Amino acid sequence: MKKLRVGILFGGRSGEHEVSLLSAASVFGAIDKNKYEVVPIGITKEGHWVTASDAERLLAGEGLPAAQARRRAGDPEATPAAAVLAKGEAVIVPPEPQAHGGTLSPFETNPASHALTRRTADRAVNVDIIFPVLHGTFGEDGTIQGLLELADIPYVGAGVLGSAAGMDKDIMKALFRAAGLPIVKHVTILRSDWAAQPKQVRRRIERQLKYPLFVKPANLGSSVGISKVHDRNQLASGMEEAAKFDRKIVIEQGVGGRKQKARELECSVLGNDHPRASLPGEIVPSKEFYDYEAKYLDEGSELIIPAKLTRRESQTVQQLAIRAFQAVDCTGLARVDFLMEPKTRKIYLNEINTMPGFTAISMYPKLWAASGLPYSQLIERLIELGLERHQEKKKNQYSR
Ligand SMILES: Nc1ncnc2c1ncn2[C@@H]1O[C@H](COP(=O)(O)OP(=O)(O)O)[C@@H](O)[C@H]1O
Ligand SMILES: [Mg+2]
Repeated sequence: MKKLRVGILFGGRSGEHEVSLLSAASVFGAIDKNKYEVVPIGITKEGHWVTASDAERLLAGEGLPAAQARRRAGDPEATPAAAVLAKGEAVIVPPEPQAHGGTLSPFETNPASHALTRRTADRAVNVDIIFPVLHGTFGEDGTIQGLLELADIPYVGAGVLGSAAGMDKDIMKALFRAAGLPIVKHVTILRSDWAAQPKQVRRRIERQLKYPLFVKPANLGSSVGISKVHDRNQLASGMEEAAKFDRKIVIEQGVGGRKQKARELECSVLGNDHPRASLPGEIVPSKEFYDYEAKYLDEGSELIIPAKLTRRESQTVQQLAIRAFQAVDCTGLARVDFLMEPKTRKIYLNEINTMPGFTAISMYPKLWAASGLPYSQLIERLIELGLERHQEKKKNQYSR
């Protein structure tokens, strides 16, 4: 039987480039090579696409042991994905449907001008499906998904709308609220309004919310640009920090209040039209909140699987996770994150991540492993779901 050719897309221009390399390295290590032929496709930090013809050799390296993988989060040289980025040849996905499914065209990049030239001598690289193991901007936000839609290449995960809606904390909350899901009180402010009228903006925030607050850029991830603001004196610096990253700033009521921290619960969702939820897990950050350092640099944060909840609370988390998935029109996979008020045990939906961290030791796969679906089978299921989604979409006609 002909093996399915799976393009693993990794790297990218986002701040989560290195995290993506680690996620991709784990996928290379675990994907069933008897069933799938793997085509590695890297996107450099500058946004250039590359693939490696001798990929088999580059990918032959063993997956990194867990502790090492974490220590090397900032060290791309440590992964086969990084080797592809360093040695690969330029390719692009032309934004139009090709006769033989997904086709990557070989291109040459002029190192001086970065101009692309067609290498007519080389053959095109075909793939049956692409697995975008990309996190954050230009990966998880609908942009890559849009390109793959134009090229008519099946892909793993959420489509354009679900990806974009799941990336934007302001739109996400609007959809959650419309679906009747519990979210914390928040205010959204445009960067331009903050710049023009900081006093009025401050008054508006203080009328609606009580300190401590969390101030976030609407579109980003990995806690970049997020501050916990304890009082009025810290508000301006929190707003300025968030304003560096997006034109919309989301200000939220801090769960846990002045004395306590929120409990952080996470649940993995998998499926298309009839998604399933995993057992919930809990994260105990090593810092005051789960900031960038606690996520990737510090070893002190703890994953508790399953989360210590009553059966009733676990079921609530699972049901809310599925409803959140459907509220943003997600497909494939998503990790849905919650904040629990420690005193009252009230559960709030925090956010949905449509391409969550995907190393073998990340929460998303670990929750599925604990729920009976091991990592390599999870990868297989995601590929099936991506193909199913593409087939389903084929039923649409686009004109009379
Ligand atoms: N409203 C809130 N109350 C308490 N803690 C919060 C709140 N919002 C965010 N946090 C803390 O900040 C972290 C990052 O916020 P989050 O909205 O998840 O951003 P990101 O998309 O970057 O992961 C959370 O994991 C949590 O530790
Ligand atoms: Mg988060």
